[in-house]
Amino acid sequence: MNQAPHILVTGGTGLVGSHLLAKLAIQGESIRAIHRKSSDLEKVKNVFSYYSSNSEDLFNSIDWVIGDVTDIPSLEPVFNDITQVYHCAALVSFRKKDEELMRKINIEGTANMVNLSLDNRIKKFCFVSSIATLDKKEGKGIIDESNEWNPENNNYDYAISKYGGEMEVWRGSQEGLNVVIVNPGVILGAGFWEHNTGRFFTNGYTSFKYYTTGQTGFVGVQDVVKVMLALMESELVNQNYILVSENATFQTVMNHIAGVLGTKPPSKKVSPLLAAIAWRLAGIQAFFTGKQPLITKHSSKAAQQTYAYSSDKIQKDLSFEFERLSESINTIGNQFLRDKKHK
Ligand SMILES: NC(=O)c1ccc[n+]([C@@H]2O[C@H](COP(=O)([O-])OP(=O)(O)OC[C@H]3O[C@@H](n4cnc5c(N)ncnc54)[C@H](OP(=O)(O)O)[C@@H]3O)[C@@H](O)[C@H]2O)c1
Repeated sequence: MNQAPHILVTGGTGLVGSHLLAKLAIQGESIRAIHRKSSDLEKVKNVFSYYSSNSEDLFNSIDWVIGDVTDIPSLEPVFNDITQVYHCAALVSFRKKDEELMRKINIEGTANMVNLSLDNRIKKFCFVSSIATLDKKEGKGIIDESNEWNPENNNYDYAISKYGGEMEVWRGSQEGLNVVIVNPGVILGAGFWEHNTGRFFTNGYTSFKYYTTGQTGFVGVQDVVKVMLALMESELVNQNYILVSENATFQTVMNHIAGVLGTKPPSKKVSPLLAAIAWRLAGIQAFFTGKQPLITKHSSKAAQQTYAYSSDKIQKDLSFEFERLSESINTIGNQFLRDKKHK
C-alpha cells in the first residue's frame, strides 16, 4: 500500500462487503479489510473480476488482515490509521442451532466494532442492518423507517440479532460516534451462488419448479453499495435508511431470473401446507448432510407473506434513484452465466 489505510471494511468476503471493496478499490481508496482464516478469498477475486480486468491488482491494493469481530485482540491493531468503518460482517442464518453464534457475531461483534471506533475516534461508521428489524403487520400498509422494532411481534432469531446490533450502533452514536445505518431488503447480487440469495439464481438455472406468492422488498447489491458510499461522503449522520428498489413477489423474481437464464419459470405454487412439509423435510436432510437447509421454518413462512417497504427517505435525502429490479436481475443473471461458462 502506498498510503496508510483509512477505510476499514468488515465482511469483505461476503456479498455486500466484496462488492463494496471492489468499488472502493476502483476509486483508489486506501483500504484495510479483515477476514477470517477460513474465508474464501478466491470468491472475492471473482467478484472483483466483474468490475475490472485488473482484479488481481485491485485485490492486492487492499491491506488484508486476519480478524474476527468477536475477538477483540485481533481487532485492536486493525484500527490503526482508520478514519471510516463499514461494518458489513454478520452471520445470516435462519437455523435454530445458529441462534447463539448469531447473537455473538451480530450483537457482541457489532458492540466490539462500535467500542473500538469510539476508542479510535473514527469519523463515521456505516452499519449494514436489515428490514428484518422493522415492525410489520402483514398486509397493513407500507413499511417505512417509522415502523420501529416491536418486541411483541413473533421476531425470529436473525431479526433479534440484527436489532441488537442496531442498538449497539445507536448506543455508539449517543457516546459521540457519527453513524449511518442501512436497512436493505432482500439483496440480490453476484458471486455467491451457493449461499443465501445467490441460490435464487442457482435454483433458477435448474428450472426449479416451485414458487411462492409472498412479497417482500428487493434491492440490487450495487445500489446498496452506492448508497453506503454516498452516505459516508455526505453530511448525514445518525439516520437509518430502508434500501428497497422494488416490492415484488418471489414468483415475479423467479420468473425474471428464469427469463434471463433461459430456463423454465417455476410452475407449481407452494401452498402453506406444502411449505410446512418442505421445511421439515429440509431440516431432516440438513441434519444428515450437515449442510444449510434450503428452506427453514422462517424462510418458508416469509415466502408466503406479503409486505411492502418504502425507500422514500433515502430517495429524498440523497436524491438517489434505484436501478429497476429487472435491470439488477439482468446484470446478475449474466454474471451467473459468465461464471458457469468459466467453471
Ligand atoms: N444478503 C441479504 O439479502 C441481506 C439483506 C439485508 C441485510 N443483510 C445484511 O448485510 C450484511 C452483509 O450480508 P451478506 O449478504 O454480505 O452476508 P454474507 O455473504 O453471508 O457475508 C457475511 C460476511 O461476514 C463475515 N463474518 C461472519 N462472521 C464473522 C466474524 N465473526 N468475524 C469477521 N467476519 C465475519 C463473513 O466472513 P467469512 O467469509 O469468513 O464467513 C462474510 O464476509 C449483513 O450484516 C446482513 O445482515 C443482508
